[in-house]
Amino acid sequence: MRFPDSRLRRRRKNDAIRSMVRESHLRPEDFIAPLFIVEGEGVKNEIPSMPDYFRYSLDMLKAELDELVEAGIRSVLLFVKVPEELKDNKGTEALNEEGLMQRSIRYIKKEFPDLYVMTDVALDPYSSYGHDGIVKDGEIVNDLSSQVLAAMALSHARAGADMVAPSDMMDGRIGAIRKELDQYGYENTGIMSYSAKYASAYYGPFRDALDSAPGFGDKKAYQMDPANVKEAILETQFDIDEGADIVMVKPGLPYLDVVRAVSRKFDVPVSVYHVSGEYAMLKAAAEKGWLNEEEVMMESLTAFKRAGADLIATYFAKDAARILNNRS
Ligand code: PBG
Repeated sequence: MRFPDSRLRRRRKNDAIRSMVRESHLRPEDFIAPLFIVEGEGVKNEIPSMPDYFRYSLDMLKAELDELVEAGIRSVLLFVKVPEELKDNKGTEALNEEGLMQRSIRYIKKEFPDLYVMTDVALDPYSSYGHDGIVKDGEIVNDLSSQVLAAMALSHARAGADMVAPSDMMDGRIGAIRKELDQYGYENTGIMSYSAKYASAYYGPFRDALDSAPGFGDKKAYQMDPANVKEAILETQFDIDEGADIVMVKPGLPYLDVVRAVSRKFDVPVSVYHVSGEYAMLKAAAEKGWLNEEEVMMESLTAFKRAGADLIATYFAKDAARILNNRS
């Protein structure tokens, strides 16, 4: 096949043929909407480094959830901002049955039983050190952290979470969580593992949102080195073997090669986290009028599907879903 007998532009001639031969498709149900929940009443405050994205108190969440559901979003991923005085080095508040996370899960499952509720499992928002696990002598200890994370996952399951999402990168925590859930009769509670999560500077705005930046050092002794991809395969393999139902690559766009490698290799659903810094970059450029927000957003999200992602956690979930609805 050669020019001039073959002209590839024939398949780009108009919108009809372009849509007929399109290889990757986005659907509202591909998106997982992250939610930031805070204590208090009547709170809906914008996160300075994440324009148009808000922290909500529970009483203000309903309107947002109505909009998400209306747009066709099927799942939310919950994060809570924990008051400073409740933070310690043991994860005490993370296990509190009356904690903000546990109350949020109960509230959402009661008001929106059809919404699939996923919860972040990691200690950083609860940690006086801002680390994802327990700190001892300046180190984030692995096995003890896994134990606490398993207890935390169980408490989310008890509150009604459909799926827990461990984002901490401790070794063996998926197995520990699976065992704990099964032992207490929560064999139907799923696990979406942040399997290949990199030590990335793109998490900055998220840490502003939750006031969860590490108090000392960085997260490089548990999150992955951005230079590695073979290691991502190993991490993912371990998590699948330990019982992960969905695996994840995070961040998103700078790691599309990892998404591709993981989705080619494994037969489980792959999610990708389009993280806060990626959102912030796009918003900032759009605010300056340097990029068309809507177009760059849809192009970025499509790129995830092309690379092989099944699900996309993104702060653009609602906006993108609305655009897709208007198209159909
Ligand atoms: C916490 C957690 C982080 C994100 C999700 N869960 C931050 C971190 O690891 O420091 C980042 C999400 C984002 O940047 O959008 N374990």
